[in-house]
Amino acid sequence: MASVKLPSAPGPIGVFDSGYGGLTILKELRNTLPEYDYLYLGDNARAPYGTRSFEIIYQYTREAVSYLFLHGCHLIILACNTASAKALRNIQQKDLPLLDSSRRVLGVIRPTAECVGNISKTRHIGILATTGTINSNSYNLEINKLYPDIHVEGHACPMWATLVENFELENEGTNYFVRKDINILMSKDKNIDTIILGCTHYPLLLPLIRKHTPQGVNIVPQGQYIASSLKNYLLRHPEMAEKCTKNGSCNYLTTENSLIFDRSACRFMEHSVLSQHIELTEYNTICDY
Ligand code: DGL
Repeated sequence: MASVKLPSAPGPIGVFDSGYGGLTILKELRNTLPEYDYLYLGDNARAPYGTRSFEIIYQYTREAVSYLFLHGCHLIILACNTASAKALRNIQQKDLPLLDSSRRVLGVIRPTAECVGNISKTRHIGILATTGTINSNSYNLEINKLYPDIHVEGHACPMWATLVENFELENEGTNYFVRKDINILMSKDKNIDTIILGCTHYPLLLPLIRKHTPQGVNIVPQGQYIASSLKNYLLRHPEMAEKCTKNGSCNYLTTENSLIFDRSACRFMEHSVLSQHIELTEYNTICDY
């Protein structure tokens, strides 16, 4: 990558996820920061990432980050907890200094962890996330760094992202898995008063999640917290804000068939979506500096 010249002109904010989940973040980013341009990349062809190994998630995420940098982004949001848990640290510490130390890649776990301290009264929090995110312990570590008094209990929901990727949002099978996983989490700790949806795919299941969550338990989707955290970041970093173009546009890239992506994405975004199909594998070599 060191030998490849990245475009220096200002560009859109890159938003990356394994698939459709990052759209839940993108929607909130556009509500909060509508003036910016966005370039969304969903690696739908290889989703879900949740049960994949560290090496594979890191490799896929690097490919996506390289692609977005090469297509003009200076700032990328990993709108994916699994990638934030498994790849972000290496990308920030090992890759960025070699690629271009002025560019930034930000994750979603830290800003979500920051918000929970003000929400939970019992100081018992539950996390629902992919197997990769739960096994990484990232939420426990981030939350306890900030709020040592909070008890964090996690539960992995390996089926949920797959159901969302297939847009099976309300059928009987989905209902079964959502009820089962929420019951397991709640049975681990009866004092939980706040559940973090620690996977950006999960807000698409909100009607079922609400149905099966005991009354009085807060459900925390991440979008609004990521959006206000990014707003804050851009205010604190005017030099980065200047490198992000502001025409209010949004473009979509997918590694899947673009017609399939458009059909599902427009149902969620509530406006028509015209994506472009891309291949990420060719960027493998570019990453191998
Ligand atoms: N949406 C992603 C997350 O927040 C990944 C889901 C998956 O691909 O398994 O973790």
